[in-house]
Amino acid sequence: MSVSTAAGPGTAGLAECVVAWQRTYGRHSLPWQQTRDPYRVWLSEIMLQQTQVSTVLGYYERFLNRFPDVAALAAAPQDEVLALWAGLGYYSRARNLHRCAQVVVAEHAGAFPRTAAALMTLPGIGRSTAAAIAAFCFGERVAILDGNVKRVLTRVLGFGQDLAQSAHEKALWRLADALLPQGRGIEAYTQGLMDLGATVCVQRKPDCAACPLAAQCVAKAQGRPEDYPVKRRKLVRSQRAHAVLWLVQGERVWLVQRPQTGVWAGLWALPEFEDLAALERAIADWPGEQQALPTIHHVLTHFDWALSPVRLRLPAAAEVDEILAQQWPNGRWVPVVRLDDYGLPAPLKKLLLQALPSSSR
Ligand code: ADE
Repeated sequence: MSVSTAAGPGTAGLAECVVAWQRTYGRHSLPWQQTRDPYRVWLSEIMLQQTQVSTVLGYYERFLNRFPDVAALAAAPQDEVLALWAGLGYYSRARNLHRCAQVVVAEHAGAFPRTAAALMTLPGIGRSTAAAIAAFCFGERVAILDGNVKRVLTRVLGFGQDLAQSAHEKALWRLADALLPQGRGIEAYTQGLMDLGATVCVQRKPDCAACPLAAQCVAKAQGRPEDYPVKRRKLVRSQRAHAVLWLVQGERVWLVQRPQTGVWAGLWALPEFEDLAALERAIADWPGEQQALPTIHHVLTHFDWALSPVRLRLPAAAEVDEILAQQWPNGRWVPVVRLDDYGLPAPLKKLLLQALPSSSR
């Protein structure tokens, strides 16, 4: 006879297995696990969305050095926040992070709310992130359901419904609630599900031999764990192509701040043109040496972006500042040695730095 919980047959003991496994095999020494400070835990959870632990570590430390608490972050200029985020991608996370810090300071006297329900009302904090913060910092018994945990739970339960449909996603949330440990241990359980998803129950070739839930896993019994989770809606990826102008004069480069919405919102970038012909028309009368550079292919969530850079080295004597300011009022000359102070999208930063002698990087 199989033993049941509210989540269905075969699920008794699941939480206990996860907790015991986490205590022995899970991750314990990540920097955000050494604290119950909601500022630090929140920062780590936002950085860890769509980004691997190994990448986050360096960013997390630099960010905390510069912004040791929520008040410091709230008081910072957006540019500085974006500059420290540059390279992590998904920049709306950084803008929301900044806004969230300001709301915590202005509306919550600088203290993060202590329940998942209240945390969810803040900018950039979704249901799963709110639950993770509430569980880790305040011991609240609430379910998380991020991408990794969806994979673990759909497999162990054999949940084959299409998660692209919100009714099915809601059903999985209800199951996640029903599986929570009864007594203590919400912190280890929450971390354990994350760790299992990240290290054992991975997307391709899960290591079922190392899994504490193997004996009760429906997907394993079916012999096809990789078929879960089911998510049918296919993202239609589109292609875009633009030309970008890399304008150099002496040791400085002309950068423009992108609008606050759209791709790379608020970041500093090279001026962009519809295509090469438009760029060439714009600089036809300008003095200096032009060079077309290899196209950069950048993959974003919704489209692939081909960026064709043209570098124009203006002679030192060329007086173009007025024309530039007129054409790009949100632009400025940036000394190449100061590029690190600006939030630049990673592929552009790489392009610009390649041109520098390594001694001045
Ligand atoms: N991914 C999201 N949150 C995490 C955490 N707290 N530890 C490790 N990976 C995570």
